[in-house]
Amino acid sequence: MKLSKVAIIGSGGREHALAWKFAQTLSWENVFTLPGNGGIPNSHTVNVDDFEEVERFCIYNSVDMIFVGPEQALAAGIVDFFNGKDIKVFGPDKQSAKLEASKIFAKKFMQKYGVATAGFEIFNTINDAKQTIAEKSGNLVIKFDGLAAGKGVFVCSTSEEANKALNELEIAYGEKVDLIIEDKIAGDEISIIGFTDGHTIKLLQSAQDHKQLLDGDQGPNTGGMGAYSPISDISDELMQKIHNKIIIPTLKGIHSEKMNYKGMIYFGLMVKDTEPYLLEYNARFGDPETEVLLPALKNDLYEIADACLSNKLETINLEFEEGYFADIVLVSGGYPKTYEKGFEIIGLEEIDKNTIIFHAGTKKEANKIITNGGRVINIVCKGKTLNEALEKAYYEANKINFKNMFFRKDIGKRKNKYF
Ligand code: GLY
Repeated sequence: MKLSKVAIIGSGGREHALAWKFAQTLSWENVFTLPGNGGIPNSHTVNVDDFEEVERFCIYNSVDMIFVGPEQALAAGIVDFFNGKDIKVFGPDKQSAKLEASKIFAKKFMQKYGVATAGFEIFNTINDAKQTIAEKSGNLVIKFDGLAAGKGVFVCSTSEEANKALNELEIAYGEKVDLIIEDKIAGDEISIIGFTDGHTIKLLQSAQDHKQLLDGDQGPNTGGMGAYSPISDISDELMQKIHNKIIIPTLKGIHSEKMNYKGMIYFGLMVKDTEPYLLEYNARFGDPETEVLLPALKNDLYEIADACLSNKLETINLEFEEGYFADIVLVSGGYPKTYEKGFEIIGLEEIDKNTIIFHAGTKKEANKIITNGGRVINIVCKGKTLNEALEKAYYEANKINFKNMFFRKDIGKRKNKYF
């Protein structure tokens, strides 16, 4: 039987996890990552913003499916570009990807279809937004409408913080800027991520990301300092509410709007007093959630993706490993602000064979692996309990070293109060 060939778009830990998962059934020679990184086998330097270049690569290498990791390519219309061509692309089209790429589009969609979410107002100028802030007590979230690589969301506790956020947006985008001011819900965050073919959503296990840099959820927001899965204290009752108040109305909306949505759908949830609220959609897998979700998935990823693309997701039963997975992210000192790159990563050969290493900001140079980004390495371990998974992951993290390396010491230790 002819094996399928997949090209994954992206270069981080999420893409390493995707490639690793595909390679289990397709083998590494049939799994290409564009552009990939220093630790993903079969990585290729391709300009992924240039869809014609991606197409040429795929035709030359007989790739039959593209799996898109990050949001940029989806928002730029990679699915639309390949529409009607011989290469299948897993992901929502440009219009559907607006659920992530436009916060205003997403909020209007949530409102229209009765998805539980925080109250909000839409603004088109900084001046109008400032007037509203003056009338509010200060507990609010300001969201730039477009994609901003994690830098467009400001969680504010005071009017001063809110004004500072608006000044930053004005410097970046000018006085006329589309944004949302949302009521702040202070609760516990959950990431719920699923596959969809536009008719059915099949969920992976729950996961919890740790977005802030420092222990105790202090310091600036980052792309994610660690994650674990599943979250054992989510009750069946809460899960039922998530289905009824968020997932089912979302699916109804996708269907009613006739969206061409065949890909991942990510529900970024906040739970307060056992009530779930949708903070955001992402049109892709989460990072670092993917690094703990895919090792737990027993199914063949190609088969699921193919079922989504041919409207047959209903026929797939997702199955999961018993136990827990924990991911500790090793980052460059100074991240998420300025940091140096190019330091050799020591100790990778000491890692236990049962530990999974997913590279993020790394590069191979003269047979050495060197740092090449803010988030550098993900250390993923499995345990019968969450504590066992965490203990192993921290033990392994301490074997690795590079200049200015930093990681959080309290991943998985958060006490969720509102489930
Ligand atoms: N873990 C958050 C995200 O992927 O956006």
